[in-house]
Amino acid sequence: MSRMNVDHFDEITPLDNFYQTSSFFPMPVVAISTLAESGQTNVGPYSLIFPYYIAGKDHYTMLLLVRNNSNTAMNILRTGKCNLNFLPDDNKYMKECVRLGFPGEKTADKMKDSIFTMQKSLTELTDHGEQFPEIINEAFQVFECTWLSNLEGADKQIQETGIQTEGYDDVITNYNNFNGITSNMGAHFILRIDHILIKPEYKKAIVEGVKPKNFPKVPIDYGYRDNTNFWFQSFSKPYAQKIPESKAVQVDTVQYAADRLDTDVKFTQEACAKLVKVPRVFLKVALKGCVDWAEKNQIILVTAEHMNQIRDKRNDEKR
Ligand SMILES: Cc1cc2nc3c(=O)[nH]c(=O)nc-3n(C[C@H](O)[C@H](O)[C@H](O)COP(=O)(O)O)c2cc1C
Repeated sequence: MSRMNVDHFDEITPLDNFYQTSSFFPMPVVAISTLAESGQTNVGPYSLIFPYYIAGKDHYTMLLLVRNNSNTAMNILRTGKCNLNFLPDDNKYMKECVRLGFPGEKTADKMKDSIFTMQKSLTELTDHGEQFPEIINEAFQVFECTWLSNLEGADKQIQETGIQTEGYDDVITNYNNFNGITSNMGAHFILRIDHILIKPEYKKAIVEGVKPKNFPKVPIDYGYRDNTNFWFQSFSKPYAQKIPESKAVQVDTVQYAADRLDTDVKFTQEACAKLVKVPRVFLKVALKGCVDWAEKNQIILVTAEHMNQIRDKRNDEKR
């Protein structure tokens, strides 16, 4: 049988850890702090960590993919808590991550030479009396998280099996698919975000408008690695790519969508003009948000001034 070819591409066979072995895959570099049984905070570097529930639920989550006998995984299985410390790009921090990423070292041994300085988390400060993992001061932002162990019965699964250090094949026949122990050596954790802490200069940038010079120095893990090296992309100034003006909808289109809503609230043309940059697929949701505000404030004709008030309220919420 002849091999098929696609112009300009070769095919590569995906192997285990395909994102490292068979492709280039851009990822974050996050130092995860968890609480060891001794009460000491353990730090392990992780890249397979992504937003999971981003809207439409009453909480936000991240998804972490992790070797289930790492210190981090075992501490999450036992305590349910972890902090995601996003480190800025700096060669000494990436070097430290690679050192802390060497598998099989005990917390006391790996942490005694750590270059990171630590402080209590907001969760610990507000949850009087209980100990939680510390956060890393050098991070530009930290997500303090709780594992949603009730999803997919992961809590019952771990109660039944106990925490294993040499794999779960002897104690599990049907692995979970999404949360908890998902294979002999693998675990997936759906982590609820309890707090996002961010350095004041970056909060200011988000609230007041980000410019190229006030982005944090975010490093990128290239995914690909070999036996000797991890590969990182050092930070360089981001550039803006403008959203095409031609995609803006006409005021008439907004007015038409507004008139079709099932409500007595009406919009002036000037109010509709404020929404021309909203992509068409989000228009109805945006208009409904304005209608909710208008109904709460007993307004039946929404003007441009009202639209400004709605925008200011959103900006206040962001603050
Ligand atoms: C930059 C970097 C990213 C890593 N990402 C992951 C990951 O996403 N998942 C994982 O299981 N291991 C990952 N590792 C390997 C872990 O860091 C390694 O297993 C380490 O032993 C974890 O430390 P711990 O046992 O204290 O949790 C990564 C290592 C480095 C250096």
